[in-house]
Amino acid sequence: MILVTGATGTVGRHVVQLLHQGGHPFRAMSRHPPGAGAVRADFDDPASLRRAVTGVRAVFLLTAPAVPSPDHDLALLAAAREAGVASIVKLSAIGTGERFGEVTVGAWHQAAERAVRTSGMAWTMLRPSSFAANARHWAAIIDAGQPVPNLTGDGRQGVVDPRDIAAVAVEALTDPVHAGRTYTLTGPELLSVPEQARQLEQVIGRPVTTVDLPPADATRQLLAAGLPPAAVDATVTGSAWARAGHNAILTGDVAAVLGRPPATFRDWAEAHFVIDNKGAGERL
Ligand SMILES: NC(=O)c1ccc[n+]([C@@H]2O[C@H](COP(=O)([O-])OP(=O)(O)OC[C@H]3O[C@@H](n4cnc5c(N)ncnc54)[C@H](OP(=O)(O)O)[C@@H]3O)[C@@H](O)[C@H]2O)c1
Repeated sequence: MILVTGATGTVGRHVVQLLHQGGHPFRAMSRHPPGAGAVRADFDDPASLRRAVTGVRAVFLLTAPAVPSPDHDLALLAAAREAGVASIVKLSAIGTGERFGEVTVGAWHQAAERAVRTSGMAWTMLRPSSFAANARHWAAIIDAGQPVPNLTGDGRQGVVDPRDIAAVAVEALTDPVHAGRTYTLTGPELLSVPEQARQLEQVIGRPVTTVDLPPADATRQLLAAGLPPAAVDATVTGSAWARAGHNAILTGDVAAVLGRPPATFRDWAEAHFVIDNKGAGERL
């Protein structure tokens, strides 16, 4: 039995789909489970986690706390250890633990990674680059005729398709050969946000403009939008790190695990954006 946390999210939903297609027994965890094969559990409710991990061999561990913290990872690890879970595949992030000026990029993922590595369970670490699916938030902005806010300037990133992240996760969950490995997951090309916008406009046949949002402006806008200061800090730090060119990284890890090249941003856009009379609208 495989427990998929974050099962209703961007990556987790594809992990669930692939496990289902592969005939692997799984349990999809969410606070609002959608149906069969699902378990209702909350990282903030230890009793629900204990129920979720009962009889489980491997866990796909995806946390997305509103305020950056390793607490959700630690809670799941505690329950998993107690239940005798054998292995953990943790979704972390590229750049985790890198020093950038006075700050550490992905400090909360770093603490969680450390806990996973020392948990006594077998582990695989997945460190994806920027998700192609982040662009799904652009649909409403494009429809409104507004420019897409660009927090990373001309900084290029190895934008990766969440379906590839999920496919690697499923390999790691089902084949012990991946134990003890850390995979940095990128797409096949380095793209800045304006370059992504140009590709997207070719796919949807409508103009997609961007507006640069330097760190101080991004901080102001995100705070004004009501995000907790610690979440704003983490977002702006990661974006400034990428803006400075530190995430201009491509790896062969997706191809090495899957035996095929990673999908391009354009592949993702073609699969997920539709052109209709209403505008850019999103298919997923
Ligand atoms: N976006 C990027 O470019 C990027 C790049 C690298 C790494 N990452 C990492 O990717 C992760 C986010 O992945 P994602 O985009 O797939 O997430 P997502 O789409 O935001 O989904 C979050 C998932 O977590 C579940 N969840 C949230 N709070 C929960 C709680 N208290 N208890 C139980 N489940 C809870 C949600 O389920 P319910 O709401 O149904 O309960 C949902 O399934 C983060 O760790 C982030 O650091 C992101």
